[in-house]
Amino acid sequence: HMHGGVTVIVFGASGDLAKKKTFPALYRLFKNARLPVSTKIIGYARSHLEDQAFHEKVVGYLGKDEDPKTVQDFFSLCSYVSGKYDEDDSFINLDNFITASEDSRNMQDNQRNRLFYMALPPSVFLDVARGCSKHLVKKDTASLYPIIIEKPFGKSLPTCNQLLKDMSGLFQESDTYRIDHYLGKEMVKNIMTVRFANVLLSPLWNNQHISSVQITFKENFGTEGRGGYFDEFGIIRDVMQNHLLQVLSLLAMERPIGRDGEAIRDEKVKLLRCVKPITLEDTLVGQYVGNNSGKPGYQDDDTVPKGSRCPTFALTTLWIDNERWDGVPFIMKAGKAMERSKVEVRVQFKKVPGSLFGGVSRNELVLRIQPNEAIYLKFNNKRPGLSSETLLTDLDLTYQERYENMRIPEAYESLILDVLKGDHSNFVRDDELQAAWTIFDGMLNGLEEQEVVPKPYTYGSRGPAEESAFLQRLGVVRQNPG
Ligand code: BG6
Repeated sequence: HMHGGVTVIVFGASGDLAKKKTFPALYRLFKNARLPVSTKIIGYARSHLEDQAFHEKVVGYLGKDEDPKTVQDFFSLCSYVSGKYDEDDSFINLDNFITASEDSRNMQDNQRNRLFYMALPPSVFLDVARGCSKHLVKKDTASLYPIIIEKPFGKSLPTCNQLLKDMSGLFQESDTYRIDHYLGKEMVKNIMTVRFANVLLSPLWNNQHISSVQITFKENFGTEGRGGYFDEFGIIRDVMQNHLLQVLSLLAMERPIGRDGEAIRDEKVKLLRCVKPITLEDTLVGQYVGNNSGKPGYQDDDTVPKGSRCPTFALTTLWIDNERWDGVPFIMKAGKAMERSKVEVRVQFKKVPGSLFGGVSRNELVLRIQPNEAIYLKFNNKRPGLSSETLLTDLDLTYQERYENMRIPEAYESLILDVLKGDHSNFVRDDELQAAWTIFDGMLNGLEEQEVVPKPYTYGSRGPAEESAFLQRLGVVRQNPG
């Protein structure tokens, strides 16, 4: 797609996201020969740094046992430019720098592709997008100017709409790649394959056979050090409204007419518009408190205001108002400072009808997104031997055991490669974002207006005790909690 090469400009180059995710992903693409020929990478930020000092900042994140020669070759593609985010002169300087680099690569005028990567906080993001659009995009050429942006995409429907409006004056939707890094994860990318390339699942994938779907996200660490950001957003905006909702749309959408970005996103939007706005009654929120082995509570963080009602845990139910899913609860759960780190989807099937084997455990299809990718199906089997007892057993496809020598790419690596190919399927479209906020807005407002106090749970626990009753009410059978 990027004929003739590309210059990748990473704004916010000295920030955490760029160092931990963007540059390591670019490095791995380079190492695996996935970058277009004639690629150059420019880190841009406000602080003054020499190229060398910048490389030193990044190198620690590339991986421990990297070949020094490969690392050096990668850095020979990278330069650093410092400048302001809101000043014409800085952008003119940057443009000159890029142009000189393009000249030195003998790039043709219509193949001087520039990829803008915004690894920036929302406060400066629009200024930079404006600077790019005004000074770095050359109108009337065939060169490509894709822009990658990161969440938060607003914090409510009105703020999201404002952001979309501001951006639409600067970049076209077809050049915009909104990252939800869950869409770059191996198992999330696999959902469509599992659903639509296995004929045995299709007839079961509906409210006739499925009784509930649980989408669970747990982290065994708190918000330490990020309290300032987190307190403004909370777990629902941080993880549910984006990452978990994306997983839900892939699980629940209808079969797209093709595998291209627009076909897939059309189906997601259609599905999201069928999801009823979430209610407060369907939602349980929690906040962690310190434990007796010294782990701090959420409010012990100095950057968190005392008395904060910000949820660090939430459990909520989404109802999809269409023929396929009517009556099936999609239960989302997300929590920080839990007993372990795990992200999974658990599809629970209905009980076996009749009395011959009625009462045995239910089938479940589990997609473990991380850690340790796996798909397993809870399957009833006769206990081998003289017993006639029925045992719930796993049909197990654990990646590490099944696929030898596999390398699972990091989400960011896969997503940046998609952008280089011009593939939008794993990025969030504007109308998708609006549909997503529409589902959550009322509940989020309700939490604030009614000053809902989150239920306390201990750091390192399974979350608020109220959870069991909540799941029971929805008919979820807990066969093996975890
Ligand atoms: C981010 C959230 O989007 O996703 C973080 O802001 C969260 O709070 C992170 O920890 C989880 O991503 P991953 O890839 O570690 O599961």
